[in-house]
Amino acid sequence: MIETMASPEEKDMDLLIFGARGDLSARKLFPALYHLDNCELLPAGVRIHALAREDISLETFLNDIKDRVRKYVDDSRWSEEQWASYSSRFMYHRIDFGNAEGFSELAQLLSADRPAMFYLATPPSLFGPICEHLGAAGCLSGDRRLLLEKPIGHDLESCKAVNDTVGEYFPEDSIYRVDHYLGKETVQNLLVMRFGNRFINTQWDQSCVDHVQITVAEPIGIEGRWSYYDGVGQLRDMVQNHLMQLLCLVAMEPPNSMTAEGIRDEKVKIVRALRPINENNVRDHAVRGQYAAGWLRGESVPGYLEEEDCPAQDSQTETYVALKAFIDNWRWAGVPFYLRTGKRMPEKLTEIVITYKALPHNIFAGAGSEDVPNRLVIRLQPNEGIEMQMVSKQHSLRNKMGLVTKNLNLDFLDHSELDRIPDAYERLLLDAINADQSLFVGREEIEESWRWCDELIDAWQARAPSLQSYQAGSWGPTKGELLIEKDGRSWHV
Ligand code: BG6
Repeated sequence: MIETMASPEEKDMDLLIFGARGDLSARKLFPALYHLDNCELLPAGVRIHALAREDISLETFLNDIKDRVRKYVDDSRWSEEQWASYSSRFMYHRIDFGNAEGFSELAQLLSADRPAMFYLATPPSLFGPICEHLGAAGCLSGDRRLLLEKPIGHDLESCKAVNDTVGEYFPEDSIYRVDHYLGKETVQNLLVMRFGNRFINTQWDQSCVDHVQITVAEPIGIEGRWSYYDGVGQLRDMVQNHLMQLLCLVAMEPPNSMTAEGIRDEKVKIVRALRPINENNVRDHAVRGQYAAGWLRGESVPGYLEEEDCPAQDSQTETYVALKAFIDNWRWAGVPFYLRTGKRMPEKLTEIVITYKALPHNIFAGAGSEDVPNRLVIRLQPNEGIEMQMVSKQHSLRNKMGLVTKNLNLDFLDHSELDRIPDAYERLLLDAINADQSLFVGREEIEESWRWCDELIDAWQARAPSLQSYQAGSWGPTKGELLIEKDGRSWHV
């Protein structure tokens, strides 16, 4: 997290992207590398090897990818000259990832004294075979790093199997498990805000905080990903990783320093302290929903079971989850953490809301805003920023002690020299190039997170709570509202 980078010219590296013709590469990885290059943050010595199974020339590959990358690069940053210089870093290799042949050619490209990073933007079923083939072909001597995309496993057992397999070839300190939420600027700022400001840190526990909300809402449906999504659902796709990471960063104790080990150790303690949601409490603590047809921004949208390519008319896969979680430790005893995430919700909104307890005694009773608690709203998207809702005096001679609620607003774009917030993948790729693992997920964290999610999934299977239908374009099913309202609270949005 702390910038430790040598000057860009000093780093030589081979970056091998497996799955270079896939969606993630076109939407995220290549645009991120372009932006880094454009900002002169991508060391001149980084060569990019694009690997895919199609038998095409480098020229065809670049022509295809250029149009796709262009869509994700800001106009102000795009130029043909910049593209020409960026694309001169590329090599294209045709290779069948499931087949050992071809990997010996890769070995010849690599040299033990030049670091290499393998980015597996492939289905997880290929993680094991690719690592085995890299090992057998002798690609792994020297400084070698492995970047893995989610999902890592489907449950605890399969996650362990993936970790065991890749662990045979790469030591843990060379494995970079990507959770792109950790690369978002505001997520990192959450740590700075908590641990860089004494007054916030001292008001961050059960004595001051009434409850915490984490909402990750998306207007999109499943975007043609039915075959992947239907076997996974919103709990595995979003809660097990992204929401869990946000929860950990909100709740963890300060690490001794901002090292990867320090941060991971503290995060894992939070996951371990999460109270299980099991057969005994699942009905009160968890809601699962699925969107039905509805309206979004004035357009009608189909329900989940009417989406294109939907083969299973009776699918019980959830597209919405709301949870009430508790962290059983000294700091958070008794403070509910309400988590909510769903597809086809009215807007793209990711926010963390800390609601403080009411005043012990209100000396301004009757003056206006006395019932509004202080709230800290940390917005990840859109309009990244932090807002503190506070009570203030209304300027008025007439009304001596009239109170109003005001927002102290920290809008990141307004207060920075940046004209854009960098994409999470820019941060993560740069950190991996710099061998900084602090924003990547450790093995223990991910396995503990699966352990907790597995128990919830088992409880859902055992108690079979009904899947709640909600209209596309709404904030989720009524039961999701009731989950929080029955405690006398309400969702912030
Ligand atoms: C991915 C999920 O990890 O995150 C997607 O697989 C989801 O289903 C996406 O849409 C959301 O990411 P972001 O950065 O757009 O909030």
